[in-house]
Amino acid sequence: MSPIKVGLLGLGVVGSGTWNVLKRNADEIARRAGRRIEVVAIAVRDLEKARALVGDDVTLTTDGMDVVRNPEIDIVVELVGGDTLAREWVMEAIAQGKHVVTANKALLAKHGNEIFAAAHERSVMVAFEAAVAGGIPIIKAIREGLTANRIQWLAGIINGTTNYILSEMRNRGVSFAEALADAQRLGYAEADPTFDIEGVDAAHKLSLLASLAFGIPVQFSKAHVEGITSLALEDLQHAQRLGYNIKLLGITRAREEGIELRVHPTLVPLQSMLANVQGAMNAVLVHGDAVGQTVYYGAGAGALPTASAVVADLVDVTRLQTAEPEHRVPYLAFQHNAMSDTPILPMDEVVSSYYLRLRVDDRPGVLADVARILAQASISIGSMFQEPAGEQADIIFLTHEAREGAINGAISQIQNLPFVQSAVTRLRVENL
Ligand code: NDP
Ligand code: HSE
Repeated sequence: MSPIKVGLLGLGVVGSGTWNVLKRNADEIARRAGRRIEVVAIAVRDLEKARALVGDDVTLTTDGMDVVRNPEIDIVVELVGGDTLAREWVMEAIAQGKHVVTANKALLAKHGNEIFAAAHERSVMVAFEAAVAGGIPIIKAIREGLTANRIQWLAGIINGTTNYILSEMRNRGVSFAEALADAQRLGYAEADPTFDIEGVDAAHKLSLLASLAFGIPVQFSKAHVEGITSLALEDLQHAQRLGYNIKLLGITRAREEGIELRVHPTLVPLQSMLANVQGAMNAVLVHGDAVGQTVYYGAGAGALPTASAVVADLVDVTRLQTAEPEHRVPYLAFQHNAMSDTPILPMDEVVSSYYLRLRVDDRPGVLADVARILAQASISIGSMFQEPAGEQADIIFLTHEAREGAINGAISQIQNLPFVQSAVTRLRVENL
């Protein structure tokens, strides 16, 4: 059979990884796909740099439209990033009747509903395994492997850059800035690394995972997003003393009232799997009603791991392109006419345990007053310790589960006590 023809948009970290994997594993991939997968055209900014990597047999252009409108091409692989040009090119590729593979979670988190609707209309596939958790086949696992289950929750480390930064700071005492620079050099970070460190990239991915898990439209704008930039080193140290590590988690949970959708730094028990995920590795726990808890672990970023997912999508599309559209796996795991309108819960309705740290004057009655406010809000204290700080003291509490609205109300009252000398630090704790 003749090779399937591919056009690449982008030949950066992931694009060059994809090129290299397709070349070095060409025979193995063809044995799996049933035919060879051949890249025939590539769009980049720097033609000279690209020519040095791919040689003379591939058409190079600086205009992505040349690729998506090339009649020879069956599959367009979007590895440019961003949601402006990438959106135009992906929409045009779909309009041209081409299948699309993309690693671009920012694009799908913001415009996924529009893109999937257009693709459905034109009966083409849009595959995005590389958009979540790098090389881990988490989308395939949820969309196909766990399809028998009512998924109850999923939680994971889904940003390699922040996990790399937290690991380097905790294990090697490296500064935040130095660890971020390393993550950029290693190709883990987004073009705009604030997306990583402010939790936005994780929220892009989480909103896709929530859609796949619960059959809801992609709703990135409703996700609660906190990154790691305001995390204090002393909280990492206090957490350790309490038996916890702090990780940036994406968590989505189906409750009777709606769906939790949140990204934030989270205390996780030191002995848990998530606490021990190091560097740019990712891990996702998925809890289904039939299977119970399942765990997916692997490289969350970088050229070859991400290329592994891109090429897996290319093989899937190659195998399925002759199948009737209704026999293909739906984009978001559920049939497009069977999506649910279950609401995303506001953060006040979220239920979690909490870590609270406050600096107070070190005098009698202080602890009792704080404990009274927590008790009046029906918030139960799990453990606490106090650390002297000159004439003052830091008090650290771990609470049992409470509604976030109740915790926030109690914190406002505590903040107004005359002996409280700092803003109250509040972090969430998940025992999963
Ligand atoms: P890079 O910045 O390394 O590569 C981007 C590529 O797009 C470059 O080849 C660049 O060309 C090309 N490009 C950018 N703008 C244009 C333009 N206007 N016209 C033509 N070509 C253009 O990004 P990554 O490879 O890291 O990321 C690509 C996508 O993959 C993003 O969506 C990212 O979120 C996602 N992703 C990245 C992962 C990673 O580990 N890096 C992991 C998972 C997903 P030139 O080379 O000439 O500058
Ligand atoms: N910047 C992303 C990360 C790349 O660090 O996880 C992988 O999606």
